[in-house]
Amino acid sequence: VGAAPGEKPLAGRHVVVTSGPTHEPIDPVRYIGNRSSGKQGHAIAAAAAAAGADVTLVSGPVALADPPGVTTVHVETAAQMAAAVEAALPADIFIATAAVADWRVEAAAPQKIKKSAVLPHFALAENPDILAAVAQRRSGRPRLVVGFAAETESILAHARDKLARKQCDIIVANDVGGAEGAMGKDENQITLITPSGAETWPKMRKEDVAAKLVRHLAQLLRERLDA
Ligand code: CTP
Ligand code: CA
Repeated sequence: VGAAPGEKPLAGRHVVVTSGPTHEPIDPVRYIGNRSSGKQGHAIAAAAAAAGADVTLVSGPVALADPPGVTTVHVETAAQMAAAVEAALPADIFIATAAVADWRVEAAAPQKIKKSAVLPHFALAENPDILAAVAQRRSGRPRLVVGFAAETESILAHARDKLARKQCDIIVANDVGGAEGAMGKDENQITLITPSGAETWPKMRKEDVAAKLVRHLAQLLRERLDA
């Protein structure tokens, strides 16, 4: 049964979403990680599938079930996430919600590091910026590239800076600071930042943010394709 176009506004589109944290190994039993739950990213993947899209979700380690109707690729590290995203492209829309670890331990120890009188020190290396790499592709750039900005202060200024620096089309800014922050919670309050302005949405359940964001992106994609 064919759905009305309004119900499946992303039918025939490929959407790639990153979600969750990455874990960067220190040794076989320890890692650098962060507090991302993956709730918002997984909800966006599910909402895009519900809107008719063919969805690839590249997920770091999370305690969530794979969303139904979505192709989920499980990764641990930022390098693996970057490779999985490259393999998933081309896409019409790329949405980077993952809290990618900014640094990895340059040389993870092959065996568990034992406690001793000498404190261990770790040299760090910077991880690849997955969002910036996708947004700055010369060929095969997704029509819409959306990033998230998790900030604890000066939220809009930092988010505007990220939009310009990474060259994405939209940054979704959210406050992850303090007890009111979004990380791990079921609700999120976001501001959409585009080169032409900012739009703040009321605090909503992450599923509702996802559905509204997907409707918004489907509309924007349609406008760009018509233009
Ligand atoms: N991101 C990414 N790859 C990275 C780091 C970030 O794809 N190595 C993406 C995130 O998924 C998010 C956006 O970039 O969509 C912003 O992430 P954020 O951590 O806020 O930005 P950074 O540039 O890492 O800046 P900082 O952590 O210093 O605020
Ligand atoms: Ca970061």
